[in-house]
Amino acid sequence: MAAAAAISELDPSKDAAAAVVEEIVRLERKIFPKHESLSKSFHDELRKKNSGVMYLKTNKGKEGEEEIVGYVMYSWISSLCASITKLAVKESHRRQGHGEALLKAAIQRCRTRKIQRICLHVDPTRIAALSLYRKLGFQIDELIRHYYSPGRNAYRMYLEFDE
Ligand SMILES: CC(C)(COP(=O)(O)OP(=O)(O)OC[C@H]1O[C@@H](n2cnc3c(N)ncnc32)[C@H](O)[C@@H]1OP(=O)(O)O)[C@@H](O)C(=O)NCCC(=O)NCCS
Repeated sequence: MAAAAAISELDPSKDAAAAVVEEIVRLERKIFPKHESLSKSFHDELRKKNSGVMYLKTNKGKEGEEEIVGYVMYSWISSLCASITKLAVKESHRRQGHGEALLKAAIQRCRTRKIQRICLHVDPTRIAALSLYRKLGFQIDELIRHYYSPGRNAYRMYLEFDE
């Protein structure tokens, strides 16, 4: 990962949170098609007690200026299971290790509770994401047809913990 990159957990109680959320929502709109985008429901997602967002900031090159270039959302869906609900990196900043760093951070965060597995859904045509999830040990559970919209399927994947 580039030296100036830093991952933070969003704290919705802080004043600065609104600006962070706005920046993430802008990225979400750019990266995902409407039916897959959480941009409209982002604030509702954040209000859920069992979920969280981590984001990655880098220097923009100008004096002290920073920008958010990636984010990951997670939730604890039961006492045994967590879910990665979103992962994205700005197109201009891909292939620099940011996605992997964010996913690893979210896995660590989810594991602060004694869960047995982390699951997620991914469109099988999202080759980069699929490859990243496999790299970090996620396995394909099953193909769910028309998961996102008519004709757009999803793999359900999971990462199991031994202890
Ligand atoms: C998936 C995504 C987050 C990866 O982010 P990234 O910062 O480019 O990924 P990294 O640089 O950390 O790459 C880590 C691993 O991901 C995989 N990967 C990333 N980009 C890839 C590509 N274009 N093709 C194949 N594998 C790729 C590789 O396994 C890579 O490991 P390697 O470098 O050892 O080959 C990014 O491509 C993205 O935002 N895509 C659009 C949104 C999306 O599909 N999100 C997932 C569904 S919610």
